[in-house]
Amino acid sequence: MTTRDFLAMKRRGEKIAVLTAYDVLFARVVDEAGMDGVLVGDSVGQVFAGYSSTLPVTLEQMIYHAQAVRRGVRRALLIVDMPFLTYQVNPEEAIRNCGRVLQETGAQAVKLEGGSEAMAETVRRLVSVGIPVMGHLGLTPQSVNVFGGYGLHGREEEEGAAILAAARRLAGAGCFSIVLEMLPRGLAAEITRALPIPTIGIGAGPDCDGQVLVLPDLLGLNEGFHPRFLKCYAELGAAARSAVSHYVQEVKSGGYPGPEHTYE
Ligand code: KIV
Repeated sequence: MTTRDFLAMKRRGEKIAVLTAYDVLFARVVDEAGMDGVLVGDSVGQVFAGYSSTLPVTLEQMIYHAQAVRRGVRRALLIVDMPFLTYQVNPEEAIRNCGRVLQETGAQAVKLEGGSEAMAETVRRLVSVGIPVMGHLGLTPQSVNVFGGYGLHGREEEEGAAILAAARRLAGAGCFSIVLEMLPRGLAAEITRALPIPTIGIGAGPDCDGQVLVLPDLLGLNEGFHPRFLKCYAELGAAARSAVSHYVQEVKSGGYPGPEHTYE
């Protein structure tokens, strides 16, 4: 898959499936299921490292996870989230850091949060040196301290209009796709209709050109996280608990290892 395939899918009205991955084992599972895009999200900070936000995630950590995911992805478009402060300071730093991600991980694109004039200029510069960019609007988790939480965005007309304007700006600057996070359905649909590039929704309703979820959330591994938009397709948290308890019991009782696990 390439960024051009994403654009072609929008033109054909074909939905785009994207999922996060952070390691080679799940990257293989995700890719072999026929995923169109795999995102090494900075959500790794929360679902993998246990931080309360994505802010502490570093560029080195993203590169490490992206390299692991790269080894498991053969077909899907591989996109890497740029962590907080690696692309906001100025376009030169953004080019160096995003360039490092492409060069050192083999990913095909990066994702940046925000749609200000300055961010659009950064996108323009990145695209001009050959770095494809996915945008991210609505709830942009790296700004959680400005927003004061992880709630819905764009409910008020003025904010909705500002998000639509930012989406147009990012598309004009050369983004090949934009993630829309936590928006009312109507606004996400309006943005999707207005743009020539695909929108990938999370908590933004069914009218986006594609959907993205965080893999441990979808698998039921992030127990206790149940926002309205999330559908758990498995209960792997419960399955893992049960397997691990069973192992403890069998070690204590002498049931494991059995003769079939023993070298004579
Ligand atoms: O970090 C992440 O996983 C993301 C997705 C939620 C889109 O940005």
